[in-house]
Amino acid sequence: MIKKCLFPAAGYGTRFLPATKATPKEMLPVLTKPLIQYGVEEALQANIKTMAIVTGRGKRAIEDHFDISYELEHQIKGTSKEPLLKEIRSLISQCTFSYTRQVEMKGLGHAILTGETLIGREPFAVILADDLCTHDEDKDNVLKQMIDIYDTYQCSVVAIEEIALSQSHKYGVIEGHLVDNTDNIYRVSDMVEKPDPKDAPSNMAIIGRYILTPDIFDILRDTKAGKGGEIQITDALKVQAKAGKVIAYKFDGKRFDCGSVDGFVEATNYFYNNTKDKG
Ligand code: G1P
Repeated sequence: MIKKCLFPAAGYGTRFLPATKATPKEMLPVLTKPLIQYGVEEALQANIKTMAIVTGRGKRAIEDHFDISYELEHQIKGTSKEPLLKEIRSLISQCTFSYTRQVEMKGLGHAILTGETLIGREPFAVILADDLCTHDEDKDNVLKQMIDIYDTYQCSVVAIEEIALSQSHKYGVIEGHLVDNTDNIYRVSDMVEKPDPKDAPSNMAIIGRYILTPDIFDILRDTKAGKGGEIQITDALKVQAKAGKVIAYKFDGKRFDCGSVDGFVEATNYFYNNTKDKG
């Protein structure tokens, strides 16, 4: 069973400066909800109640968001605004949140290793809040779909989508072969972090959803800095992949790259139109 979800949330969010100068990028709102809240809701809908958040300097707003603001509660009690806090109150009452700080920014792999103290020795989920995922209402969300895959294969699982090859320098890219009788589940044989298109082993890119087995921490401890001088989760997963222990799953749903201005605007329009359609 997957009981914990790790949220690496220590990055600077430089692509959104100056908005992210004093505000964590995970707190940027799509409509009225910060990105990280969408991630926490996705985890909760996948039956995960323990949220483990790796923060850094300047990220206190995240902790305050997942806490009660007595002054605010007092101010709006009984007013027409009170229902606006319903969703976040419900999250706070159903989940626990624990935090640790990544003191130095040494990459996503390092951020995940920093989270070991909150996770311990059990398989766990990872959500990168900048990748905002939606799904058809009659289907499971992306993380829940991945947990079902984990239950079958009992190894690390990465979510993938097909990209234009010209975009390969933005992603971890996998090499793999379809598992028998499936059209969306691959056994990964190799993976490369942010390759040039000419070096990309395929057009299948990892997006910000992972299920990881706890041996990943031991591997990360031995992983040297890779692309961009940072410790990459892709390099650690590659070690598991070489042992046949990584599944890539072409998920059912839609993902917005809210780490980029274009993706953020696209997500905002999508959610706005969706809420308008529902009246
Ligand atoms: C990270 C990972 C990359 C992955 C991407 C998904 O990159 O390093 O392998 O494809 O997330 O969003 P980042 O977007 O943090 O540069």
